[in-house]
Amino acid sequence: MSEKRYQVGAAIAEGVGYTIVENASLEGRNTFRVPARASLLIDVRRADALGELFGYAMLKSQPVLVLGEGSNILFTRDWPGVVLSIAALGIRELGDDGECTRIRVEAGENWNDFVRWSLARGYCGLENLVLIPGTVGAAPIQNIGAYGVEVGGFISEVEAWDRQSGQLVRLDRAQCAFAYRDSVFKHAPDRYIVTAVGFALPRRRDLQIDYAGVREELAALGVAAPNAPAVAEAIARIRTRKLPNPALLGNAGSFFKNPLVERGLADSLRQSHPQMPAWDGTGPLVKLSAAWLIESCGFKGLRQGDAAVSEQHALVLVNLGQATGMEIWSLAERIRAEVSSRFGVLLEAEPRIL
Ligand code: FAD
Ligand code: EPU
Repeated sequence: MSEKRYQVGAAIAEGVGYTIVENASLEGRNTFRVPARASLLIDVRRADALGELFGYAMLKSQPVLVLGEGSNILFTRDWPGVVLSIAALGIRELGDDGECTRIRVEAGENWNDFVRWSLARGYCGLENLVLIPGTVGAAPIQNIGAYGVEVGGFISEVEAWDRQSGQLVRLDRAQCAFAYRDSVFKHAPDRYIVTAVGFALPRRRDLQIDYAGVREELAALGVAAPNAPAVAEAIARIRTRKLPNPALLGNAGSFFKNPLVERGLADSLRQSHPQMPAWDGTGPLVKLSAAWLIESCGFKGLRQGDAAVSEQHALVLVNLGQATGMEIWSLAERIRAEVSSRFGVLLEAEPRIL
């Protein structure tokens, strides 16, 4: 990563494995591309620098925010403290247990690059998660998921700096408590700084192609007997059509989680709106489509200044140019209020709102 590209303030210190910049712009570091600044921005290229950094008074006395590629964050104001950007790189194959190969990936690796790397080496599991923006270190935070697969199923352990104990710790899959867009890390924001993620990837597994549109896309590609790279190709094509590209139009993917509601509410909404998509799980809760709820309120394509609901996908809020984080948040609040009053469903933001 080029330091200079992002650097706005002057570098005030350079240590072994890190660079500190004062009064840094974060505009190029969040995919909404909204303006925000941090008092201090520290790019950490070596995880073992964290021990030294947390010995400094400035990290003890100021709020610390951990940042990856900023694709699931909305800055509504400047960050009045330290932003730690985890940029350590490296992928290592650790060995095979007969079923799976264990792979250790440093937190700063780009997620999609790692997915492509794994597919090129004949591993499978991550094909449905192709083209999700962000870093490997952020993947366990919300247990990224797409097209019927969640990353937690392939994570064997997460290595993290625990700010509470001041030590490097390892959490196994059970300790990570992965669930839909959720993990132990979301419940203790900034306690754990993920430094590396351990994966267990098989050479063979049943492909997950049941999600709506995937089989059709494979057929359109002329693939009769799909393998993992073909599934990745089909999903990449669907994603490219469905979602606005953050390099061209600022956004953070889905702005709201798909709500999990009590069966009673889901059933009464299904009666009044038979066309409403709803997914029954094994438990008592039913998942609804936030996109459908928002589109049904007439919000798809709605513009409020430079903050807008994407014309491509009702669940994606976009920055048409000069929107601030507060303007995007105010549009989100308007959507939440309308969906709540029409359907009795409370939408929860997926990105971290700061
Ligand atoms: P950031 O946005 O920088 O951070 C996100 C959160 O993780 C913050 O709370 C941050 O503090 C924390 N964090 C980041 N790195 C670390 C670390 N090393 N240690 C501890 N905490 C950390 N998500 C999906 O699940 N499925 C999708 O299909 C999907 N599609 C998307 C499509 C688009 C176009 C966009 C823009 C986003 C999409 N996302 C999706 C959301 C996003 O890509 C993921 O949440 C991704 O994992 C965020 O990575 P990041 O490095 O950008 O994290
Ligand atoms: N729909 C609408 N209007 C729209 C778009 C979709 O009504 O404008 C309805 C359609 O009925 C469609 C349904 O919503 O069948 C589901 O749409 P889609 O397949 O696009 O999935 P999603 O529920 O909107 C979720 C994830 C995405 C993930 C896709 C594919 C959440 C919050 N979002 O979106 O993740 O890529 O499924 O698995 O769970 C993200 O988290 O940022 C993200 C993009």
